[in-house]
Parts: sequence; C-alpha cells; structure tokens
Amino acid sequence: MAMKQLAVFASGTGSNFDAIMQAKQAGTLDAKVELVVCDRPGAPVIAKAEQAGVPVLVLRPKDFDGKALYEEHVLSACRAHDIDGIILAGYMRLIGPTLLASYQQRILNIHPSLLPAFPGKDAVGQALDKGVKMTGVTVHYVDDGMDTGPIIAQEAVPVADDDTKESLQAKIQAVEHRLYPEVIQSLSMKEESL
Ligand code: GRF
Repeated sequence: MAMKQLAVFASGTGSNFDAIMQAKQAGTLDAKVELVVCDRPGAPVIAKAEQAGVPVLVLRPKDFDGKALYEEHVLSACRAHDIDGIILAGYMRLIGPTLLASYQQRILNIHPSLLPAFPGKDAVGQALDKGVKMTGVTVHYVDDGMDTGPIIAQEAVPVADDDTKESLQAKIQAVEHRLYPEVIQSLSMKEESL
C-alpha cells in the first residue's frame, strides 16, 4: 500500500509543512496532507494549517494520563482521516509503541544533520560546536530511538567559516524544503511502500 493520505506532526514553525503543501500545489507531490497534529497550542504551524484548509488536531500531551493514552487519541484521529503515512516535521516528541505498531515503516522524520552525527536537539549548534566542515539533512524511517531509524535519503550542506547558527540553519532548511517533498513523493509512488 502506498503512502497517499498523510498526517504531518509538528510542534513549531511549520516551514516543512509549507514546503509539502507547496509541492502538492505545484503538482510535484501526489500524496495529500489530510491532517496536522500539533502538540503545542499556539505553535505557528497551526495557523498555517488552518490557512491551508487542513484539519488540525491540537493537543496538550500533559492533559492525558500517560503517553499511551495520548497516542491512542492521535491514532483514532489518524484512522478517522484514513491516514496511511505520518510525516514528522519538527515534532519534538519521541513516537511511542502505540503509533509505531500501527504505522510500522510508515512514519518519516527529517533531521538537520547527516545522521548518525548530531542526533537529538540543536543539531545545527552541535555541528558548529564540533567545527565540522560538512553537515546536512537526513530523512529516515522512525523507530523507537532518537533519530536512529533506517536512513532513506541524505544531502550534504557545507559549513562556511563565517556561518552562524542562523545562516547555517537557513542553508539546511532550504535543502529540507526540497528534499522532504521529493522523498515523500518517491515513497508515495511505491506500490508496496516502505
Ligand atoms: C527542521 O529543521 C527539522 O529538520 C527538524 O525540525 C525543524 C522543523 O522546522 N526536525 P519547521 O517547523 O518545519 O520549520
């Protein structure tokens, strides 16, 4: 089964969500975003989704009695929207067994480094602190670890001597906004996806 009906999970700005929507509009992406799940009330991605006419589920995980119940709720919404693929785009939360079991090999993440280098938070800052000359972007399947799942695609981004966190982040995001829709499209075309 191909990934055609997507849910985007996001906690923040939503620039990758925007890039995915733009690819759909440009006709370079066949899959459709049917739902946005946001775990942070007030996050800018919420207004972006509303403006795009995509249903948004905004939840506060601490309102639930544990991660399993939170994920059960998210799972019900995904099922109600016939979601067959989950796209993490700045979702600041580890996916637990409830969602992993139901969407095995159907959850993707994008991370701003060449994994396995610099997993976790602030990958751009970590790269600058280490003084690497090359970093990049990774799209990978999600497993139960932190940025550890099988790698699908990577693209390198050179680090200039005068790069700041902001300038490097901007270069990385420009790559993300092209690469993520491309990878999603290639997976959405696979008959026996993932
Ligand atoms: C991206 O840089 C992505 O790599 C990371 O979180 C960021 C989300 O940015 N996982 P945005 O909310 O899509 O602008």
